[in-house]
Amino acid sequence: AAALKVGVAGLGTVGASVIKILDERRDALTASSGRPIQVTAVSARERGKDRGVDLNNIKWHDDPLTLAADANVDLVVELIGGAEGKARATVETALKNGKPVVTANKALLAAHGLALAALAEEKNVSLAFEAAVAGGIPIIKTLREALPGSRLDRVSGILNGTCNFILTRMEEDGLSFGEALALAQKLGYAEADPTFDIGGFDAAHKLAILTSLAFGTQIDADAIYVEGIQSISPLDLATAEELGYRIKLLGVATRTEAGIEQRVHPTMVPKSAPLAQVMGVTNAVQISGSASDITLVGPGAGGAATASAVIADIVDVARGASRLPFGVPVKELQKLERAAIQTH
Ligand code: NDP
Ligand code: HSE
Repeated sequence: AAALKVGVAGLGTVGASVIKILDERRDALTASSGRPIQVTAVSARERGKDRGVDLNNIKWHDDPLTLAADANVDLVVELIGGAEGKARATVETALKNGKPVVTANKALLAAHGLALAALAEEKNVSLAFEAAVAGGIPIIKTLREALPGSRLDRVSGILNGTCNFILTRMEEDGLSFGEALALAQKLGYAEADPTFDIGGFDAAHKLAILTSLAFGTQIDADAIYVEGIQSISPLDLATAEELGYRIKLLGVATRTEAGIEQRVHPTMVPKSAPLAQVMGVTNAVQISGSASDITLVGPGAGGAATASAVIADIVDVARGASRLPFGVPVKELQKLERAAIQTH
C-alpha cells in the first residue's frame, strides 16, 4: 500500500522523539499500519540545530504553515505548542486543506478544541490528540471509545508530570522547589513556560478535555478553579507526611446536581490511597461511573512516552480509522448549555 506521508511541525522534546521512534520502529509500524509511514516534511524555528535525529532527505519548512499546505504531506503532526499563533494556524491550515491532524497540544484544545473538531468533521478528517492528556496513558481512547455502557460521575487524577516530579524530588531527595523544577525542565517534562505546569493551568487544560469526553459537555476551561503548587514548601510536605498524607496536585471533575464541577489544586492524599503511591513523572487517572471504576497509571510526560501516544494516533490514521474527535458529533456537545459550574 502507498506510504502515509507525514509532516512534523515542531522538533523539540516530543517532535524529535517522534522522528526517532518512527525510524527505529519502521518495520513494526508498517506491519501494524498496513502501509509504511514516511516523514516527508518537518518544520521548526532553527534549521541548523542538532536534534539528534537524521533529517536528511526530509523537506525543511521555515514556516509550519507551508508544511500544513504541502502537497507531499498527507498528515500533519503539530508539536509546536501554545493555544494561538503558529500552532493554531498550522492545525487550522492542515484541516482546511483536508489533511488529518495529530497534536499533543492541550492548551490549543482547551481553548479551541470544539471549533477545530467541527472543522475536522466538516472536512471528514481526523483530529487526534491522545498525547495531549497524561502522556503515555491511553486515556483519550478509553474515555472516547471504551466506556459507552457507563454513565460517568467522576474523573480525577494526577495530570501534570512536572508537578508530581517536583513534589516527589522535594520529598524523597530534599531538593528545593527551584532545583526540582530545573531538573524537570532539563528532562523535557515542563512546558516551554513552566508557569503552566506549576500554576496548575496545564492540569486544568487536560481536565477540561477529559470533562468534555467523560460527560459529553462543552470544553469549559475557564470554569475550573485552579490553584498550583508554587507555594508548597518542604515544611508542608514534612507536616503532611507526619500526619500520614502526601500532597498531590489533583484535577477533579464531578457530576453534581448543578452541573459539572471542575477543580485543580494541591490535595492531602492519605498515604494508603492509590494516588499517593504515584511518584515522579507518573500520572494517574481514575474514572468512576455506573458501570466503571478504573485507574490508569503511566508516564505523564517526556519525549518517548508522549511520542508513543502521538505514534498511536498516526497509526490509526494510517489504518484509515476515522473517529469523531470527541466521540460524538461536535454539534451534540454544542447543543448543551455551558455545562460546568463555577466553583470559585
Ligand atoms: P519544545 O519546546 O521542546 O519544542 C517545540 C518545538 O516547536 C521546537 O522544535 C521549536 O523550534 C518549534 N517551534 C516553536 N515555535 C515555532 C514556530 N513559530 N514555528 C515553527 N516551529 C516552532 O516542546 P515539547 O516538544 O516539549 O512540546 C510540544 C507540544 O507537546 C506542546 O504542545 C506540549 O504542550 C506538548 N506536550 C509535551 C510533553 C512533554 O513531555 N514535553 C508531553 C505532552 C504534551 P526550535 O527547536 O527550532 O526552537
Ligand atoms: N508539561 C506537561 C507535564 C507535559 O509535565 O505533565 C505533559 O503533558
